[in-house]
Amino acid sequence: MQIARRMSRLGTESAFRVLAKASAMAAQGRDIINLGIGAPDFRTPDNIVAAAKQALDQGYHFYTPARGLPELRQAVADDIERHRGVAVDKENVLIVPGGKPTMFFAITMFGEPGAEIMYPNPGFPIYESMIEFSGARAVPIELFESGGFAFDPDRVLAQINDNTRLIIVNTPANPTGGVLQRDAIDRFVAGLEKHPDVVLLADEIYSRLLYDGLEHVSFMEYESIRDRTILLDGWSKTYSMTGWRLGYGVWPGALIDHAERLQINSNSCASAPVQVAGIEALNGPQDAVDTMRDVFDQRRKLIVERLNAVPGFSCTVPKGAFYAFPNISGTGMGSLELQELLLEEAGVATLAGTSFGHMGEGYLRFSYASSTDNIVNAIDRITTLMSGRV
Ligand SMILES: Cc1ncc(COP(=O)(O)O)c(C=O)c1O
Repeated sequence: MQIARRMSRLGTESAFRVLAKASAMAAQGRDIINLGIGAPDFRTPDNIVAAAKQALDQGYHFYTPARGLPELRQAVADDIERHRGVAVDKENVLIVPGGKPTMFFAITMFGEPGAEIMYPNPGFPIYESMIEFSGARAVPIELFESGGFAFDPDRVLAQINDNTRLIIVNTPANPTGGVLQRDAIDRFVAGLEKHPDVVLLADEIYSRLLYDGLEHVSFMEYESIRDRTILLDGWSKTYSMTGWRLGYGVWPGALIDHAERLQINSNSCASAPVQVAGIEALNGPQDAVDTMRDVFDQRRKLIVERLNAVPGFSCTVPKGAFYAFPNISGTGMGSLELQELLLEEAGVATLAGTSFGHMGEGYLRFSYASSTDNIVNAIDRITTLMSGRV
């Protein structure tokens, strides 16, 4: 067999590998606490589950239009108006199976040898992986703990050159919980206006998970770059629906047909009954979303406090999403080494910061989308283990 050379450039998301290893250890009888995977631990709200069941009974068993059910696309447009204060035409909405396809489509559309795509580092690992796969040069937007893991707009703008095709931004961010503030985005957008050929992919999949009274600032609010902004969002994190596989992209008029062709060549459409459930999620009661965020907020405070008491760890307070990203350089160990040690010796699954790019060295990612008991027990075990070593 001769596999295409580009396959050697395709990376992965370590969270799935760690999940498999942690599950295998648990199956062998080990007591494992998994703070590795970024999936909310709540059941999907009952009204959404009921809508999917009803859709199956009503005969939603077939293909839908490739762009998605018109009612769902309208519900997405309404939701964007409600939460981002921006009027969007449903004709620009493409429903896809999860958050990932929108980034896959955008990077496929703009990436090729000779092109450059900028992406956050540390950041969601699929950005770098897909850019490399496309043949484009992956140009990191380096994020620093000292800046709250938010980007410096002037540094990013200075990195743009004639080959820059696409810039990927993510707020609130995985794996750091960093949030971009309005003044930084204002400065960035003002600079971007001088580069009219550069497209923006705004990954806002954690847009409903901000804390301390912060409000989400969406790149969709910026009229001057709207015709070259792709918005990525979905149901996975907001409605605890990671296993349902439902997401959407809002595409500029010049790109939506290309995105639709990528959809037809890959998924055809998102699952029909799942799309009906998606309508209920957006149009139905939102109290479960608020409750989940409040619970995450309590866990956030708890985990940061506990992590700061672990010898060799120091943890800044994340402002969004559901991840803590402690600096572990005080342990004298590398990220991957510590990830392995914690899994083997303490039975706690975490992710090395390096799973999110080279800028993640010296950090570990903890997902606090897990019960308070799990968080307390996991950090107690880690504290005991590290007390003997640091
Ligand atoms: C920043 C970011 N974007 C996109 C995704 C993909 O979401 P989905 O599981 O819906 O494909 C994730 C999932 O962890 C994420 O963290």
